Amino acid sequence: MLQQRYALITGASKGIGKQTAHLFAKNGANLLLVARDIDTLVSLRDELQEFSINVDIFSCDLTDENEIKSLFIKIKKVTKVIDIVVNNAGIIKSSMFSMTNSDTLKDMFQTNLYAPYILTQYATRMMRKSPYASVIFISSMMATKGGIGHSAYASSKSALDGMMKSLAKELAPTIRVNAIAPGVVQTDMIKTLSEDEKEEYTSKSLFKRLATPNDIATVILFLASDMSKYITAELINVDGGIC
Ligand SMILES: NC(=O)c1ccc[n+]([C@@H]2O[C@H](COP(=O)([O-])OP(=O)(O)OC[C@H]3O[C@@H](n4cnc5c(N)ncnc54)[C@H](OP(=O)(O)O)[C@@H]3O)[C@@H](O)[C@H]2O)c1
Repeated sequence: MLQQRYALITGASKGIGKQTAHLFAKNGANLLLVARDIDTLVSLRDELQEFSINVDIFSCDLTDENEIKSLFIKIKKVTKVIDIVVNNAGIIKSSMFSMTNSDTLKDMFQTNLYAPYILTQYATRMMRKSPYASVIFISSMMATKGGIGHSAYASSKSALDGMMKSLAKELAPTIRVNAIAPGVVQTDMIKTLSEDEKEEYTSKSLFKRLATPNDIATVILFLASDMSKYITAELINVDGGIC
């Protein structure tokens, strides 16, 4: 489905990003995988050796604009064109509104909004010649639903949704831009949730289970592929009906 295409995936070292890397590899994409932890990326590259694709890994702290700049200098040595960008890297730090300090707020916005904004600026310069150009942002159901203790995270993801809609208009018709809003996904990110909270989200899901990383990765694949070639400026909820 993605043969010959170059896909850049941020936050590829674990969770949703790692599963997306596996699914894209199965579908023939060449991969540019980004995260801070190089050891996990090395292991992932080893896992992907069975596929006849190119896998390049890059350690990069996306909160540092200079590191993003260096990242693209390295990527340009691998390929001149990028076809797909999955802006997946993200963090969550829960705290009640009255207890949230400006450092927490800045961290959240730096990783969840500024980083994908700057990275997409660099990436889209390399996407204009692609006939398959697709940018995908990973938002969250919290962006529209909100949540107790999630004012900073929800704000950063709502801003991401606004950015996605604006970019879709600016970059059309050459580059499609969409987002996915997952519900609660079984990754390291939800390790801080109590068993009670997990049970609550499970019971709210119309499927009576939490999402797997693959539930999200399959929709990312859909948005990256030609199956969605008439879709742009769309935010797809993948939350088991919670919202
Ligand atoms: N899990 C959920 O329930 C859920 C729900 C809704 C939305 N989401 C969104 O889905 C996306 C993926 O989440 P996940 O659950 O897969 O999380 P995860 O398992 O915690 O993985 C997060 C990924 O982001 C990378 N990352 C974090 N900060 C980074 C930085 N400064 N620079 C580079 N990479 C960074 C991490 O790699 P390193 O640590 O190696 O850098 C890791 O690969 C996030 O945007 C998240 O907000 C998740």
